[in-house]
Amino acid sequence: MTALLQVRGLAKRFGGLVVTDDVDLDVHAGEIHALIGPNGAGKTTLINQLSGELAPDRGSVRLAGTVLDALSVGKRVRRGLARTFQITQLLADDTVLDNVALAVQARQGHSFRFLADARRDVGVREAAAGYVTQAGLGDRRDVPVADLSHGEQKQLEVAIALATEPKLLLLDEPMAGLGHSESRQMIDVLRTVKGRVAMLLVEHDMDAVFALADRISVLVYGRIIATGTAEQIRDNAEVRTAYLGEGDS
Ligand SMILES: Nc1ncnc2c1ncn2[C@@H]1O[C@H](COP(=O)(O)OP(=O)(O)OP(=O)(O)O)[C@@H](O)[C@H]1O
Ligand SMILES: [Mg+2]
Repeated sequence: MTALLQVRGLAKRFGGLVVTDDVDLDVHAGEIHALIGPNGAGKTTLINQLSGELAPDRGSVRLAGTVLDALSVGKRVRRGLARTFQITQLLADDTVLDNVALAVQARQGHSFRFLADARRDVGVREAAAGYVTQAGLGDRRDVPVADLSHGEQKQLEVAIALATEPKLLLLDEPMAGLGHSESRQMIDVLRTVKGRVAMLLVEHDMDAVFALADRISVLVYGRIIATGTAEQIRDNAEVRTAYLGEGDS
């Protein structure tokens, strides 16, 4: 089977520091693929190269057979590669539903994007309501974004990303800063989305990783040292020494 995302020979240095060291990575359609590794391993830098925000020195990225290397961030989004939005780009005084409706409208390629239009368009609002519900915010749709809890804002970021109808969603630490119950809620959301949208999930919360991931890749000093199921990764001696904090006692 050809993987949905195929990363081949990706390499990046910052001066003398090798942050992406000849990375090969496959993410299959519908799978949640976790990318774990110690602080500074190069996870965010890798995500930035996939999304198009950072140009690699070498290597290639394909999504569903299309070579993405020369494409801008926006063109990659239109090909089906999305990452979660930063909340700062949202309209804080407007509601959850309005913000997602704007994202739906943007995908439909309207050249003038006014909130008034998004509010009037029944198709846009229905589509937006669907993404809001998938993100677990169905009962918060009419709440201004500024009034959401931190966890709910993270869920809204997922709803906005879903509004681009991605094939693959890049998630960089979606549980960061969340309390226990908010993390559980985010896990439920990602489970709901799982299967329809593939995900590359960078996350330090190992309970979340083991609860969600079909496969896990471990990045250490820019190099993928292992890829496998949760069980295979747990049992991998090199991974236990390098990341899971064992072997030094
Ligand atoms: N623009 C940059 N210029 C120079 N060095 C950078 C730059 N961005 C990141 N780095 C360095 O590259 C390395 C990888 O950083 P990166 O943020 O990708 O790690 P990470 O795996 O996401 O870590 P964390 O788990 O803490 O988020 C680090 O040593 C970091 O200091
Ligand atoms: Mg990071």
